[in-house]
Amino acid sequence: MESMGESRKHVGVLGLGRMGTALAGALLGAGHDVSVWNRSPLKAGPLLDRGAKLAATPAEAASADVVLSCLSTYDSQQPVLEAAGLSGRPLVNLTSGTPEQARTAAKWAASAGIDYVDGVIMAVPQQIGTPVAQVLYSGSEPTFAAQRDVLAVLGTPVFVGEDAGLAALYDLALLGIMWSTMAGYLQALALVGTEGVTPEQFTPMALAWHSAVAGLLPGIGEQVASGDYATDVSALDINAAGLAMLVETSRGQGVSTAVPAVLRELFDRAVAAGHGSHAIASVIEEIR
Ligand SMILES: NC(=O)c1ccc[n+]([C@@H]2O[C@H](COP(=O)([O-])OP(=O)(O)OC[C@H]3O[C@@H](n4cnc5c(N)ncnc54)[C@H](OP(=O)(O)O)[C@@H]3O)[C@@H](O)[C@H]2O)c1
Repeated sequence: MESMGESRKHVGVLGLGRMGTALAGALLGAGHDVSVWNRSPLKAGPLLDRGAKLAATPAEAASADVVLSCLSTYDSQQPVLEAAGLSGRPLVNLTSGTPEQARTAAKWAASAGIDYVDGVIMAVPQQIGTPVAQVLYSGSEPTFAAQRDVLAVLGTPVFVGEDAGLAALYDLALLGIMWSTMAGYLQALALVGTEGVTPEQFTPMALAWHSAVAGLLPGIGEQVASGDYATDVSALDINAAGLAMLVETSRGQGVSTAVPAVLRELFDRAVAAGHGSHAIASVIEEIR
C-alpha cells in the first residue's frame, strides 16, 4: 500500500495468530521495523526470517513508536496489555469485540495514560496489505491521524468516530449483513438441491440476483432516513405473502424453515402494524 518515504517506524505487534501474522507481514513488507510477541513464540519463525525481531515479553514488543494488538478476545488480551506497560504510547487494538468491550478498554487505556484507537478488520488475513481490506477505526482521532501512515499499510483506513465503541458497532452491523446473506444463500442451495440443482448451476444466478438486490440498498436507506415508506415498486404485503410461500415450500421440500420463518414472522408483524401497503423499508419500524 503506502510507500515508506521518511515515515519508517518501529511497530510492536502483540499476537501472531492468522491475523496478527498477516499484519506484521504487511508492515515488514512496507519497510517498517517490527517487533513481535506471541504466547507461542514458535509462530514467529516466518516473520523472523523476513526481518522481524522476536520480543520475549509484551513489554519488549511494546517499546515501539506504535503498538498493534490482535488476539482472540478482549479477555485474553487484557492481561497482555497490562503486562505491556504502554503508558505514553499509542495502542491500536485490532482484536474483535463488542462496542461495550471497546469502550471499557478505552477507559482503561485513558486511566493508564495510553493513546487508544480501536480498530476492526473487515477482511481476511490474505487481503491484508491490499486496498480491499477495509479497516475501521474509532477512538482518539489525533492518535489515528498520527498513525495513519502505518495503518494505511494494513488496508484502507476509515475513521468512523471518537466514541471508541463505534468501530465495533459498524463491525457487527456489517457482519450481520454477511451472515444474513450467507444464510439466505445456504437456504437457497438446500432448497434447489432437493431437486438435484448443484451449487455450480445455481451460483451464477445467485450472484446476478445478489448484485441486483445490493443495488436496492441505497433507496431503502433513503426511505429509512426520511421515514417516507410510500412505494410504487413492491409493497410489504406481497413480500410477506412470498415469504409464507418460501416457508411452505421449504417445509414441503423437506428442508429447515428456520431462516425464512424468522423473516416471515418479522414481515407479518410489520403488516399487522399497518405497513402492508408500504415499502420493505418500513420493516425497520418493527426491528426498532
Ligand atoms: N482471521 C480473520 O479472518 C479475522 C478477520 C477479522 C478480524 N479478526 C479478528 O482478529 C483477532 C485474531 O484472529 P485470528 O484469526 O488471528 O485468531 P487466531 O489465529 O486464533 O489467533 C489467536 C491469537 O490470540 C492469541 N491468544 C489466544 N488466547 C490467548 C491468551 N489467553 N493469552 C495470550 N494470547 C492468546 C493466540 O496465541 P497463540 O498463538 O499462543 O495461541 C494467537 O496469537 C480476533 O479478534 C478476530 O475476530 C480475524
